[in-house]
Amino acid sequence: MATGDNAVQAADAPRRRRYRVHHLAQAKEQGSKITMLTAYDAVTAAVFDAAGIDVLLVGDSIGNTMHGHTTTLPVTVDDMIPAARAVAGAARYALVVVDLPFGSYEAGPEQALATAVRFMKETGAAAVKLEGGRSVAPQIRAITDAGIPVVGHLGFTPQSEHALGGHRVQGRGEDAAEALCADALAVQEAGAVAVVLEMTTVEVAARATEILQIPTIGIGAGPATDGQVLVWTDMAGMTEWTPRFARRFAELGTALREAAEDYAAEVRGGTFPDAVHSFER
Ligand code: KIV
Repeated sequence: MATGDNAVQAADAPRRRRYRVHHLAQAKEQGSKITMLTAYDAVTAAVFDAAGIDVLLVGDSIGNTMHGHTTTLPVTVDDMIPAARAVAGAARYALVVVDLPFGSYEAGPEQALATAVRFMKETGAAAVKLEGGRSVAPQIRAITDAGIPVVGHLGFTPQSEHALGGHRVQGRGEDAAEALCADALAVQEAGAVAVVLEMTTVEVAARATEILQIPTIGIGAGPATDGQVLVWTDMAGMTEWTPRFARRFAELGTALREAAEDYAAEVRGGTFPDAVHSFER
């Protein structure tokens, strides 16, 4: 299937323009909310792009959602590259951001820059995202200085889930809130164009959003952030369990299972394929 010609894209408004990094700053200035969803392949990227989603994140959550891991830790650069290439190839309008996976940037600015450069050369993505605050500011600075936009990620950072003691809300208590705000300021100072805030209290997300000039994009961080991001399989109801912060906007898992059951029943009953779906002479 040529996703560039995908029927879902016919609904595109002709006046839409490519969402770029400067539109993130513009959105914050104008108070218009930034919309972000994860995508891991060309088919869903084309659908979300046609739906008008501003930013597509090729998240390392691909490890959990698509590869069946229980954490994002096993995800590699070689896992991310084909996914990012597929999403960037299918997204006509959305800004495509790709996650630097665990182990691809922690060693220092040189390693981080090498990974980011590889992503830019080999995928067509427009920006990278990495997890951490003050400790990774030199990495953010090195990547930014090379002309590659960086999105930060604070609060619950899944790559550090063992150090954080599991999936726990971050920023609780004054010390933790202050530390999170200091990290947010360091990420901004290092040149990040936006920062994802994951599973923080509403109050600390609001405080970070207020003190930062760059936009905050929340996931489980309440309504005060400059934008929202969800993992698409959560928001589409693809799985039985959904995190508390993710609303199920559809029940696609059930719809897909029913479609597969109908297909199997028709094949077994001999009613598919029929004349309409067969070629004669
Ligand atoms: O990998 C991912 O999907 C993410 C989101 C949770 C923001 O980083």
